[in-house]
Amino acid sequence: MFVRSMAAASPPPPPSTSLSSQPPSSSPSQLPLRAMPGTYGWPVVGPLSDRLDYFWFQGPEKFFRTRVEKYKSTVFRTNIPPAFPFFGNVNPNIVAVLDVKSFSHLFDMDLVDKRDVLIGDFRPSLGFYGGVRVGVYLDTTEPKHAKIKKFSMELLKRSSEVWLRELLSNLDKFWSTIETDVSKNDAASYIFPLQSCVFNFLTASLAGVKTSVSPEIAENGWKILNTWLAFQVIPTTKIGIPQPFEELLLHTWPYPPLIVAGGYKKLYNFINDHAGEVIRLGEEEFGLTRDETIHNILFVLGFNAYGGFSVFLPSLIGKIAGDNTGLQERLRTEVRKVCGSGSGSGLNFRTVNEMELVKSVVYETLRLNPPVPLQFARAREDFKISSHDAVFEVKKGELLCGYQPLVMRDGKIYEDPEEFKPDRFIGQTGSELLSYLFWSNGPQTGTPSESNKQCAAKDVVTLTACLIIADLFLRYDSVTGDMSSIKTVVKAK
Ligand code: HEM
Repeated sequence: MFVRSMAAASPPPPPSTSLSSQPPSSSPSQLPLRAMPGTYGWPVVGPLSDRLDYFWFQGPEKFFRTRVEKYKSTVFRTNIPPAFPFFGNVNPNIVAVLDVKSFSHLFDMDLVDKRDVLIGDFRPSLGFYGGVRVGVYLDTTEPKHAKIKKFSMELLKRSSEVWLRELLSNLDKFWSTIETDVSKNDAASYIFPLQSCVFNFLTASLAGVKTSVSPEIAENGWKILNTWLAFQVIPTTKIGIPQPFEELLLHTWPYPPLIVAGGYKKLYNFINDHAGEVIRLGEEEFGLTRDETIHNILFVLGFNAYGGFSVFLPSLIGKIAGDNTGLQERLRTEVRKVCGSGSGSGLNFRTVNEMELVKSVVYETLRLNPPVPLQFARAREDFKISSHDAVFEVKKGELLCGYQPLVMRDGKIYEDPEEFKPDRFIGQTGSELLSYLFWSNGPQTGTPSESNKQCAAKDVVTLTACLIIADLFLRYDSVTGDMSSIKTVVKAK
């Protein structure tokens, strides 16, 4: 009976979206037009005060929640960091969209422009990417977007065989490191071994190069990416060091790419020297220059793929390892029923696709912990945006900002929205909910293409996560731990 309000509601009022996310409830014509609540406050003071709330006094989630309550609306105007009083030219004014219906306007490429708004009005210096405006910063109206998106999708398509083999062999190394650490200590911290595993498998799959051809990159490549990523996003991210130091030291200015230029150059040279085949593909099939090809490979590999998995996998492993409701037993039974017993046996993209509970657990983790929490898009023209309860006028040029952790707990769509329900996405009603699962900047039922900005790896990401769970339960009867460490592993009998 869920999608919750669907049955009772009239047909959805799609923002004229090219993806099939059509949220439920009343059509705009039946909803009252309401003046948009919220304020930007006084110049400098308003943005600074909101910045302090966001990073210090409230934190991102409470920041949005308290304003939803205050304005009695899931759509309102406010500011979002960064607010650099003395540096850069960043406009912190946004229109927050915090329910499934208003958020889905972000996918309507007729209504919104995605130029340079990956992490808001603030775009890190292009020096982080050798001066190239990589694909993720391009709007769909820019001809180069189509070339780069198709190139990214081609990298995924041609890597599908290697992907499975490299994932499983790097997971072998990962788990053997964890077993050794657990046997020596009480717990094994797994973040760095996991990042090394993810970096090696992604580099082999997407760039077609084994990191072992360069001992330095094998050893340090993922560490370089961590630093490169951190200096781009720190101004927009709550880190958690004591205040006021975080505000004074980390959120007051943008960082210059020079800090990470040496490490980035090493990665560039590595791709330049060893990834001839994919570079040729970018140049000859997709009309990119050599330089554009390499920087785009590095961005997709380092920011989209490595960055995305580095955030997502700990929440997935932590959820499973920390569970004491019997979920592990149910997952183990399903995995072994489909694959038989024994590590690696019968495990592939096809078999993993048959594991309904495993897939549902992956979707539910992405719902409650969307790895990319904020999404932005700019109004191309004046238009009317609808929430579940009202319609608001948005002006050309305004920046819409959705905070996914709240949007994905929209009580009009999801029953018991705060609860982790492993079976939520199983069966007919479960699969209907996939239209409202938005982690990939589009619905899980959508199709990434050159005409939209949905993650090119929407399906590969979820299937890879399923493979990681299935591989785990072919190796072990159970694991215990949390989002950063594994405490025990019990090998499969
Ligand atoms: C857990 C892993 C991943 C997560 C959480 C993730 C998430 C996202 C999100 C949210 C966006 C949209 C950003 C925006 O415009 O607002 C995006 C875009 C993109 N992602 Fe992923 N991604 C992941 C893995 C990957 C992988 C493995 C690839 C490899 C090809 C990839 C390729 C892309 C590309 C090319 C875009 C840009 C799409 C466009 O410009 O039209 N992503 N990703």
